[in-house]
Amino acid sequence: MKKEGTKWYLLLYVFTIFLAGISSLIYTLIKYRNISLLGLLIFGILFFTSDNLNAPLPKTGNVSVIFGISLASLIIFGPATAMLVTAVSVLNIKDYIRRVPYYKHLFNAGQYLLSFAAAAIFFESFYDRSQTNFFYARNIWVIFLVTYIFFILNTTLTAGAISISTGMNVLNIWVFNFAWIVPFQFFLSAMAIAIAFLYIRFSPFTLIFTSLPLIIAQYTYLLRVKERRTLLNSIMQIVKIMEAKDIYTAGHSMRVADYSEMIARGLRLNEYDIEIVRNLASLHDIGKIQIDLSILNKTTKLTDKDWKEIRKHPVVSYEIVKQIDFLKDRATAILYHHERVDGTGYPFGKKDDELPLFARILCVADSFDAMSTDRPYRRAKTIEESIAELQINRGTQFDEKACDVMIDILTKKMIPAVSLELSESGNH
Ligand SMILES: [Fe+2]
Repeated sequence: MKKEGTKWYLLLYVFTIFLAGISSLIYTLIKYRNISLLGLLIFGILFFTSDNLNAPLPKTGNVSVIFGISLASLIIFGPATAMLVTAVSVLNIKDYIRRVPYYKHLFNAGQYLLSFAAAAIFFESFYDRSQTNFFYARNIWVIFLVTYIFFILNTTLTAGAISISTGMNVLNIWVFNFAWIVPFQFFLSAMAIAIAFLYIRFSPFTLIFTSLPLIIAQYTYLLRVKERRTLLNSIMQIVKIMEAKDIYTAGHSMRVADYSEMIARGLRLNEYDIEIVRNLASLHDIGKIQIDLSILNKTTKLTDKDWKEIRKHPVVSYEIVKQIDFLKDRATAILYHHERVDGTGYPFGKKDDELPLFARILCVADSFDAMSTDRPYRRAKTIEESIAELQINRGTQFDEKACDVMIDILTKKMIPAVSLELSESGNH
């Protein structure tokens, strides 16, 4: 992938958004003035806690209930207090601890403030505060609309930043990264309504029963994600050491993981499955650790004996990955990643429905990386040549659906050309 952060137009975009965010904060404070200090204190603490305990999502963004907290403060106290609560996002200490580059931090804070200001102004223009019935239909509609206004602005600004840094199409980025979170926004609206209603009707103490459990649930999820990451990172270190010894497979596993994820998204798998496919893909060749280096680095033709050794690696990989608790149920994808849908692959000659979907995804991703990178005996194929090869082998070597998605990804040029030019790898 291309390096981020060095392009002047990315920095220009980031600073423009940050300045727009700060300006919108000042504008709403001047326009609406009314600030509740108690509200700011309570909701500021909740926002800060939630913002710093959120868990990273597989691709982009975070699982966080912070918007629900901002929205509840908007309903209860109005735009000025809610904007100040939202401004707490500038104080995200997790970003400093994780050494997130300053421009990403500025961008996150700026886009959040800007999106929230637009949502807050819309809210205040249409929400009827004179209503004594909290569940007055128009007001509830306004809350849901505001949620989606914020969501669309927030995700589009983020997709814009990703597009500038990677050169990919904004709409494709949006669909691949954010479309799946659309239903979650409904939950955030409902959550904000519940928090605000109980707060207004009873007392601030109701937050103990509304917000705290959500933050605790979020924290528990974060711990689980961290535990998995630590385990996977240690295993990936082994994969990297292994790939470094074999000049033809440097970076292969990570690229196959990227391609597998893209195919899985194209097939509209859920996020949980996408994460599993990605993890399986990054470990699919770990069994090569058992193959003699003299065979892996051979530049001459491989003998039958060499092939016999190489063909053992899916089984060895499977035996290793089977030991990982959250991957063991799907580890057969690794065992069968060199099988073909026509039954002529190895190690077992399984075919069609005998092959799990994840194995068929891995097979296409793995083979595409082999085509598009240099081998000891031939140069890498261009994207057009790779598309042609995928088409020729569609339905024989490759699963038709997974193959179609890969062709679609290549046709839309969603894989930055630089990742192909810089890579060197092989595929046995
Ligand atoms: Fe392999």
